Amino acid sequence: MDSPFAFGSTYDAEVKRQDVEWSQRAKSAAGGPLRATFFADGDGDVLGIAGGHRDTEHDQSVDLVSMWVAPAGRRRGVGRQLVEAVVAWAADTDSDAVGLWVTRGNAPAEALYLALGFVATGEDQALPSDPAKEEIRMTRSALTPINPAS
Ligand SMILES: CC(C)(COP(=O)(O)OP(=O)(O)OC[C@H]1O[C@@H](n2cnc3c(N)ncnc32)[C@H](O)[C@@H]1OP(=O)(O)O)[C@@H](O)C(=O)NCCC(=O)NCCS
Repeated sequence: MDSPFAFGSTYDAEVKRQDVEWSQRAKSAAGGPLRATFFADGDGDVLGIAGGHRDTEHDQSVDLVSMWVAPAGRRRGVGRQLVEAVVAWAADTDSDAVGLWVTRGNAPAEALYLALGFVATGEDQALPSDPAKEEIRMTRSALTPINPAS
């Protein structure tokens, strides 16, 4: 199990889900106006994943969620491309902002988001999977595409 501190849920909670629930989740998260999931493919292996979701079709902001790159694939621009895909999906589906929560002290993730134009909003909350930790809110415009060279 990699990076448990980075996510709002826990392995113990997720491993209890039944196959039928995973199937329903995969179907609803596959794509559409409310949810989209992006995979980075490395010759058939999943190198990384990121998702976007909004609660209703009227939301002007989408959330970037489930951001993860396999340890062997890091620092090769995979995370950047996944964020780029979520930002583009947000713009394509008429949102003007992308927000996210990141665990305070998760230096690689904070560096990634800062490099891609996200800024801290000043909001924070307890990490749902470990309330002793804190996560901070970051946001960026969806109307400005990510420059691959940024
Ligand atoms: C955070 C994470 C997604 C980054 O993915 P990645 O594919 O390694 O990121 P990229 O290679 O696209 O990095 C893009 C830029 O982000 C910054 N960055 C990424 N990782 C960094 C690190 N470990 N240290 C410093 N800067 C970093 C750099 O500016 C980097 O550009 P550069 O390589 O040209 O210097 C990855 O480390 C990961 O999956 N971590 C565990 C899960 C996690 O924390 N998810 C986030 C939940 S909010």
